[in-house]
Amino acid sequence: MKQFISVADVPGVPGMINTALGYKKEPFKDKTLGAGKTLGMLFLNPSLRTRLSTQVAARNLGMEVIVFNIDKEGWQLEMNDGVVMSGSTTEHVKEAAAVMGQYFDILSIRTFPGLQNKEEDYTEKYISQFIKYAGIPVVSLESATLHPLQSLTDVVTIHEHWQQPRKPKVVMTWAPHVKALPQAVPNSFAQWMNAWGEADFVITHPEGYELDPKFSGNARVEHDQDKALQDADFVYVKNWSSYKDYGKITSTDNSWMITNRKLEQTAGAKVMHCLPVRRNVVIADEVLDGPQSIVIRQAGNRVWAAQAVLSEILKNS
Ligand code: CP
Repeated sequence: MKQFISVADVPGVPGMINTALGYKKEPFKDKTLGAGKTLGMLFLNPSLRTRLSTQVAARNLGMEVIVFNIDKEGWQLEMNDGVVMSGSTTEHVKEAAAVMGQYFDILSIRTFPGLQNKEEDYTEKYISQFIKYAGIPVVSLESATLHPLQSLTDVVTIHEHWQQPRKPKVVMTWAPHVKALPQAVPNSFAQWMNAWGEADFVITHPEGYELDPKFSGNARVEHDQDKALQDADFVYVKNWSSYKDYGKITSTDNSWMITNRKLEQTAGAKVMHCLPVRRNVVIADEVLDGPQSIVIRQAGNRVWAAQAVLSEILKNS
C-alpha cells in the first residue's frame, strides 16, 4: 500500500479488518516494524481522536511521530499553481510538501473542505497537492470528501460486534446539527460499507441531503427515518450538510435526533457515532449514556485501524 486516501487504496477490506483486530489482541507484535522511521502529522484543522489514536498506533509500531499544527504554527500556504504570491500566502505547497518529504517517511494530513466550492472540495485539491509534491506515502487523517481511518474503524467495530451468520442491517441516519458539516464521514462510511458488502446497508436522511452517488452507490435510501430504523442492528448517526445545495443546512428538523423512542423500532441496535457529538442535538443523553451506545469502544478501535494502515504502508512502500 503506497497511500491511504480511500477504500480503493487497501488490498481488501476483510484483510484490513483482520490486521486491525490482530493488533487489538497484540498491540506490540510489530513493535520494531517502524524503527528508525518517522510519521509526520500535519493538521490544518482540529482533532482529538485521529491525532491521538494515530500517534499511539505509530508508537506501537516503533515509529517516531512529529505533529505540526500548520494552520497555527506554519507559514500560510499557497495551494494554486502559477500565482503571483504578493498576497497573504508565504510558502507554496510545492516547497512545503517536498521539504516535509525530506524529513518524514510517511506524511499524514487533515484538511477539511471549505464547503464553499464543490468542485474544489470534490477534486480533493489540498490533499492531492501534498500527494503530488511530498514524494512519500500520504495518509488521510480526513480530507475534504473522505475519512478512511474512521471508516475502517467503523467496519472493524461492526464486524466485532456481530456474531450471527446473517448480514446485519446497518442504517446510517442523518441527524440535526447547529453547524454546516462536511460530507466526509458519511461519504466514506458509505464507500466502505459498499466495498465491504457484508451488511444490508440503508441510508436515511431528509430530502435534499442525498450524498454524491459516487460514494452512496447502490445503497438503499429511505426518507422516512422510522421506516429505515425498523429491525436495524446498527444505527450509525451523523450530520452532514447538503451536497446538492452545496454546504447548506436545508433542514433543522429536531425530530431526526436519535432517542430511546427511535431505537424501540430497531432490533436492539448498537448506536455508533464518529465523535465529537453534540449531546441532545444529534443524539440524546439517554442513548449516549445507555447500553446500546458503543461510541467509546468505536473510538477505541481507532488505534487498531490506524496501526493496520501504517503497518501496511511500512511493509509495502
Ligand atoms: N472522529 C474523529 O475523526 O474525531 P476527531 O475529529 O477528534 O479526530
